[in-house]
Amino acid sequence: MLQNDLLLRALRGETTSRPPVWMMRQAGRYLPEYMKLREKYGFFERCQTPELACEITLQPVDIIGVDAAILFSDILVVPQAMGLEVQLIESKGPVLPDPIKTAADMQRVRVPDVNETLQYVFDAIKMIKQELNGRVPLIGFAGAPWTLLCYMVQGKGSKTFDEAKAFCYTQPELAHQLLQMITDTTIAYLKEQIKAGADTVQIFDSWGGLLSPADFENISLKYIRQIVAAIKEEAPVIVFAKGAWHSLEAMAATGAHGLGIDWCLSAKNARQFAGDNITLQGNYDPAKLLSPIPVIRKEVKEMIDSFGTKNYIANLGHGILPNVPVAHAKAFVDAVKEYGS
Ligand code: CP3
Repeated sequence: MLQNDLLLRALRGETTSRPPVWMMRQAGRYLPEYMKLREKYGFFERCQTPELACEITLQPVDIIGVDAAILFSDILVVPQAMGLEVQLIESKGPVLPDPIKTAADMQRVRVPDVNETLQYVFDAIKMIKQELNGRVPLIGFAGAPWTLLCYMVQGKGSKTFDEAKAFCYTQPELAHQLLQMITDTTIAYLKEQIKAGADTVQIFDSWGGLLSPADFENISLKYIRQIVAAIKEEAPVIVFAKGAWHSLEAMAATGAHGLGIDWCLSAKNARQFAGDNITLQGNYDPAKLLSPIPVIRKEVKEMIDSFGTKNYIANLGHGILPNVPVAHAKAFVDAVKEYGS
């Protein structure tokens, strides 16, 4: 039994005393406790060691007081499990030294048995659930197929992901084959996360907003829809496609329980586009956590006023930045907790 199930109740559309709050990327570099572990262990070592993943997952629950834990891992463990090498290079971000460019490259990609390749994630989830001991729900996650294809083809981060797009536009058959393989892996992966104890899962489509509305449907949403359909009876699903505001109505129609909203959209428009029967999550500009604390507190109140307390989860509009002072992150969370009191 959960002592604090605000997040799950909000996702079910139940009325809550106040909105639940958590922050995307809440386990990370703005926390000195995380930086300490980072000195000793490599990034994927931290992901692959259940004790470390567990410790990092719990840090924001203990230090910041968020209403949910999110598994410490990365979306790029899926391309790794599918056979690609992924490195995380300090100050450069993810690097895949042998990206997918041709039909021959596709020979190296497989749909793996997730219980063989990603067992360490499920072990971490079991350990986290035990350590949480019902304090707050645990969020599992995966990258959306399009966002994973971006890294698998481009081989590194990019502002435009033009090589990933060119792959889709010049070799559509190959692209769809790859997207389907990622989708099949992701469905199996999320099902096992839920079996291991994840209370809800979020699909991160960080680069969904790079696509035109028609391409978003064809290259991204088509596959997200399959994932939601396969998962939604087992646990609530949150879809966050950054920048893809034009498709909120279509995303709501997938049957997802929650939709992530970035800060480039007003609460009013988000609700208008998504309809009344879905929970919205967001949308404070992560850079605004650098504002003075009184400003953060005032704007959090205004944000909740405009989204309303029903069908709403307070969050940032994207991941927290590494240079945010811990006190500011805590002020954000406290302001939500104090709403209405
Ligand atoms: O939210 C959480 O606290 C849980 C853990 C989590 C991480 N990555 C840990 C991480 C989650 C949910 C992610 C998702 C993720 N990873 C996304 C989607 C969400 C988003 O922010 O758009 C993407 C695109 C990635 C890929 C990735 N991983 C990038 C681009 C980078 C480097 C840039 C960056 O933000 O640091 C990573 C590394 C990464 N993943 C770190 C963390 C804590 C930083 C690693 C470090 O330097 O210690």
